[in-house]
Amino acid sequence: MPLIQHVFDSFPRLDLLDGPTPIQRLARIEEELGLASRGIALFAKRDDVMSLGGGGNKLRKLEYHLGHARAAGVDTIVSVGGVQSNHARLTAAAAARHGFACELILSRLVPKDDTDYETNGNVLLDDLFGARPTLLPRGTNGLAQAEARADALRAAGHTVLVLPTGGSTPLGALGYVRCAREIAMQEETSGQRFDRIAIPNGSSGTHAGLVAGFAAMGQSPAKVTAYTVLAPADVARRTTLELARGALALLGSDATLDVDDVRIDDAQLGDGYGIPTQGMKDAVRLAASREGLLLDPVYSGKAFAGLLHDLRHGIVRDGEQVLFVATGGAPGLYAYRADLAG
Ligand SMILES: Cc1ncc(COP(=O)(O)O)c(C=O)c1O
Repeated sequence: MPLIQHVFDSFPRLDLLDGPTPIQRLARIEEELGLASRGIALFAKRDDVMSLGGGGNKLRKLEYHLGHARAAGVDTIVSVGGVQSNHARLTAAAAARHGFACELILSRLVPKDDTDYETNGNVLLDDLFGARPTLLPRGTNGLAQAEARADALRAAGHTVLVLPTGGSTPLGALGYVRCAREIAMQEETSGQRFDRIAIPNGSSGTHAGLVAGFAAMGQSPAKVTAYTVLAPADVARRTTLELARGALALLGSDATLDVDDVRIDDAQLGDGYGIPTQGMKDAVRLAASREGLLLDPVYSGKAFAGLLHDLRHGIVRDGEQVLFVATGGAPGLYAYRADLAG
């Protein structure tokens, strides 16, 4: 994997993980779905298991963003997201550990304004991590506000880095290029190969990094199937492709990606971003009650609902070895208490 190795040497990175995240078999869910008789095996890559700030997929992207920030002499990180953004929470946690000031510009993207949603879950943790959150009125552009705040901070003598939604830039996507390599190495060590890798797609950086990583290693990027939770499938596909090509360009890889390499299903979107679906609630409950695995209501819960549908309806074919990437976000469960209560 020589091209992939190039990533680790050329880009500054702050270590925010605890080494490779574990891959675990979901034997009780396999049993519940009767997968053994079809020769299907189901595993979870536990990207929710990281010691910093509650963990989650955003830490992989933040390793590269904060590496760049440190190299560039940045003292303040300004980031954006929805009220219950996991990216915002993990930016605050990583900034706390590495001594950056952190300001969060949070937008009301979801039609929910109850006390749990606006003050519990990620919002509570943002505050504990010492970030300075600003909650914008509905309909205000978060990134424009973040840029304006960054200008004011620069005028006061600070060196500022603005991170866009989800940390999803080609540089951030390198975190998931690294994850693709980690999965390939875990396959080599364990002898367990995966035919299908299932993930949520929000701001698309996770998906982009994985497809770029597999393409750069000469493996099929189409083994990654994403369930979009934010944008319609065609929009998410274009964003993912653009980010993945950007990541390949950073790597100096001549691997090419086609739109058909980016597989996105929008059946789990329901009424839109952050709006609960029955499928999500059932999936969150199944993972928790059969495996003790905490998914989240906005991303991994909807993605797992999509995978369960595909397992039950023969879209996952007999004999497939399936890896679900559990991307974290459990603090969001507390913000959706009323939706999830049994
Ligand atoms: C828990 C969780 N899972 C998945 C995602 C989706 O990742 P991406 O934005 O890279 O598509 C996010 C993004 O916010 C997230 O917080």
